[in-house]
Amino acid sequence: MLKEAVEYSLTEGETARLVQITDPHLFASHEGQLLGVNTAQSLSAVLNTLNATHYPAHLMLATGDISQDYTPESYRNFVDAIGLLGLPCHYLPGNHDDPRVMHLHMQGPRVFGQQRIFIGNWQILMLDSTVRGKPGGHMGEAQFALIDEAIAAEPERHTLLVMHHNPILVECAWLDQHCMDNGAAFLERVSQYPQVKGVLWGHVHQALDEFYPRDNAPLPLMATPSTCIQFKPKSPYFALDHLQPGYRLLELLHDGSIHTHVYRVPGNLFAPDHNSSGY
Ligand SMILES: [Fe+2]
Repeated sequence: MLKEAVEYSLTEGETARLVQITDPHLFASHEGQLLGVNTAQSLSAVLNTLNATHYPAHLMLATGDISQDYTPESYRNFVDAIGLLGLPCHYLPGNHDDPRVMHLHMQGPRVFGQQRIFIGNWQILMLDSTVRGKPGGHMGEAQFALIDEAIAAEPERHTLLVMHHNPILVECAWLDQHCMDNGAAFLERVSQYPQVKGVLWGHVHQALDEFYPRDNAPLPLMATPSTCIQFKPKSPYFALDHLQPGYRLLELLHDGSIHTHVYRVPGNLFAPDHNSSGY
């Protein structure tokens, strides 16, 4: 049974403009650090960088790992921090979140945990890829049922699928142990729907833009840097990258295409502890 969508209306033919923020890993304390990076400060730097662009986004997607310590305060800190942008925020859980605490404390007049968003002629589905107590992900049957029902109910809308875990391997062996374990089946299944025009996730703390091959049109696959530490791409062992925290902008066009780009905080203020051996 589908629940009601949060709906945004656009003018005829207008492009939907989204911001994706992911993996802030906040603590109850503003002094909290993850591998040498103060995560409240790095999130704030990302939000300030975005705010300075005056980009006219319609809404924000927050794709999990909001918290690092599972505390109510960490979620309230996130809601307070994003107030700077004045944008509606739609969130989903990551493996570092406690969904119950998250839903209780991600509260605000325009903070939404609903799984369906309508914007213009698009439908965005906020999927839950988490498995309780495990770092890796899995797309469960309830989520597949949601996809099937949502597309059947709105067959004329282009569809963007959003989740925390990566459905493809990113060639970081240590990190790929914690991917979506049925990612190949997920992509094979959802790519059958011509309505599905993009798949977007967090979790991997690095930028990735690839395409899943399919006959009618390749399907964009997108991963986005964390707002805190960055993992080094294609590293077999745990390794941090020197790149700065970032975010992604997405423009969902009326014709079903997506224009997107990753942006990072300028400078080199956020230097993680490169001697750390794990996460
Ligand atoms: Fe994360």
